[in-house]
Amino acid sequence: MKIARSSASRRRGFAAMASTIAVASLAIAAAQQAPARPADAPGQKPAAPAAPATPAAPAVPTLPPPSRAIVPVAASSVAAKPDQWVGEYVAMTGIVEASVGKMAFTVDQDKTKAAPEVLVLAGRMSDPVTPNTYVTVIGLLMKYDPADVAAKSKAHAQDLGADAAKYKGKPVVLATSIVNDKMLDLARFIPPPMTPEEEGLQKAMRGVPAASGELRKGADSSNVELATKNVAALAAAFAETEAFMKKRGKLDAVKWAADARANVLAVEKAAKSGTWDAAKTAAAAVGSACATCHTPYRERLEDGSFRFKAGS
Ligand code: HEC
Repeated sequence: MKIARSSASRRRGFAAMASTIAVASLAIAAAQQAPARPADAPGQKPAAPAAPATPAAPAVPTLPPPSRAIVPVAASSVAAKPDQWVGEYVAMTGIVEASVGKMAFTVDQDKTKAAPEVLVLAGRMSDPVTPNTYVTVIGLLMKYDPADVAAKSKAHAQDLGADAAKYKGKPVVLATSIVNDKMLDLARFIPPPMTPEEEGLQKAMRGVPAASGELRKGADSSNVELATKNVAALAAAFAETEAFMKKRGKLDAVKWAADARANVLAVEKAAKSGTWDAAKTAAAAVGSACATCHTPYRERLEDGSFRFKAGS
């Protein structure tokens, strides 16, 4: 491996790597905290999450979050004495040696080809690694065995072909982050692009929680101004939702959206005529429409963002 640098620039390189570890550790810590979920319907009690008596084993094996602090290590130390970190999450710094598969590469520390290397398997990769560049890999350290990898994480299991035998029993990191020399995490989740209709639906939905919360509050407190101020915006949002669902052929959701819109207009009518019981009933119906539609047709992606789900 050839990285010709003056010792000063080497020092800068290592300083940069050290800060990469710190930042990468922060990044993984942040990634593991579920992002704040937008409150769906203010003023409504959140539905109690269904808690199974015994947590079922995941159907598809996926890496659990680390139970302890992530240990910073150098690739050379891992290559030389992996045993002390096997089973732990490490933040391993080194230099990319070579790609050995679409989502597999090796990392070492030394400029000589003879230096032992550490295998890295990624669960996903947005871009390939560049040989001879610095990298910080965060992930679970194991001794390589294809069956053990598959049992730990389906995403990380991959066929290394003829190379598999060479790495058997050698250290491997099942990577959850691969931070390159440009500070880019090559293993990060990138949500698939949205269609213009999906963008329109998302924009409409983002305004619904606050507006429907006020509608509800207005109805509950017999406040005409509050009960009616968001009627136009809510009616438009549900009209947009209805059109979206029609395009996707989701006829039950078309009806839920149309009913929600009708109930919004019913709140307005009742509020203006002072029939507050009717206003409250209609506002409550708007509030319960959210979960009715979200359960089958909304999904939460890995990064916490929401999308339309085609459902069943
Ligand atoms: C007829 C279906 C339907 C109804 C009714 C509905 N929603 Fe949605 N909502 C969706 C779908 C589909 C998504 C996922 C699309 C997205 O988020 O881009 C969504 C997403 C959302 C989001 C996330 C927006 C984001 O940031 O991506 C919020 C917040 C939301 N809805 C609030 C509400 C509230 C509050 C109500 C009830 C007052 C409601 N919705 C009623 C279909 C519906």
